[in-house]
Amino acid sequence: MLQGKHIILGISGGIAAYKSVYLLRLLIKAGAEVQVVITPAGKEFITPVTLSALSGKPVVSEFFTANTGQWNSHVDLGLWADAMVIAPATASTIAKMANGVADNMLITTYLSAKAPVFVAPAMDLDMFAHPTTTRNIDLLRSYGNHIIEPTSGELASHLVGKGRMAEPESIVAHLEQFFASAQDLAGKNVLITAGPTYEKIDPVRFIGNYSSGKMGYAIAEEAARRGANVTIVSGPVSIKAQHESIKVIGIESAREMHQHCTQLFPAMDIAIMCAAVADYAPAQQFDAKIKREKDEIPTITLVKNPDIAADLGQMKTPRQKLIGFALETNDEEANAQAKLAKKNLDAIVLNSLRDKDACFGTDTNKITIFFADGSNKQYGLKPKAEVAKDIIDSII
Ligand code: CTP
Repeated sequence: MLQGKHIILGISGGIAAYKSVYLLRLLIKAGAEVQVVITPAGKEFITPVTLSALSGKPVVSEFFTANTGQWNSHVDLGLWADAMVIAPATASTIAKMANGVADNMLITTYLSAKAPVFVAPAMDLDMFAHPTTTRNIDLLRSYGNHIIEPTSGELASHLVGKGRMAEPESIVAHLEQFFASAQDLAGKNVLITAGPTYEKIDPVRFIGNYSSGKMGYAIAEEAARRGANVTIVSGPVSIKAQHESIKVIGIESAREMHQHCTQLFPAMDIAIMCAAVADYAPAQQFDAKIKREKDEIPTITLVKNPDIAADLGQMKTPRQKLIGFALETNDEEANAQAKLAKKNLDAIVLNSLRDKDACFGTDTNKITIFFADGSNKQYGLKPKAEVAKDIIDSII
């Protein structure tokens, strides 16, 4: 998988830098062409001589080569790479990446990189657990970077906890898996609904829900990365699609979402219904703001919205796959199975509001996927980007 791939190995200044030498050897052995970029602090831990001998290329560290004045172009490097791996990524490097502090060659290269970036944090347990680090890692993840989680064990400080850089073999496995899945949705048309719907009452009020759209957008990013042509029909959300090939159609109401989805569906290979669609809308929408009348309390009569997933289930042809979501508070499995059958879905992704840190607004989710053939697969609590990977893998 790594044969002929151009990989930038970014090394920052942590004790785990000694493992980067082994990582470099593994990458070269796997057939990759590796360019090492090291921070000034990184050079305190391992020497450029070792790294250039193993990679067969001069190590890049400074903006200029001192004796010749030659400029090391981070822009060219960023374009050359198929992937960038930052291992170890110290708390300081992660903070600089998250905030664009471009004061060394590693950060300028990162900011110029067009290729996917893998970050393997390594630091002491308290630094890793600090809210600043957590926030910075979340930011990097939200920008589409792949975080290779550190493991727990004895650290350089002799304290025991989470913060050990992932082993080189595991980092290489991440890269191999990434390239293996790189284009397995090439040419497929994928429709995703995401976010809440807003059902208008008057010009300033609506009925809505807490959906952030994060899960649907994460699935869209993953599908696009794997080569799909992705269209998101999205309710009002504050997030933006990152991948340039994702098309977003913004809507407000369930009826608008229904109209776009039924129109788009015949051309789709896969549809994933992630939106938290309002089941009811006000029967009447007022053109002017409803005023607070003295003794009179207004009554809002509701009418049923169309069931988008169920309608697509009716339209579905054998070459198409339709996946739904079920957000439940009780009788989770029975409710999910019932929806799978009723809406003629191929699979349904269950998440329960009873699981802490899963569902609305969170960056993590815990799912079980039920398939039409009666089988199911359970997953642990994971960042939504990884949950998206599991969902796409199971569809494939
Ligand atoms: N869904 C849809 N259109 C609707 C309601 C739901 O497309 N009007 C989709 C959701 O996007 C999800 C699946 O159907 O993929 C199940 O949604 P959910 O709200 O859990 O189910 P409902 O059918 O609305 O049932 P209930 O609210 O009673 O649990």
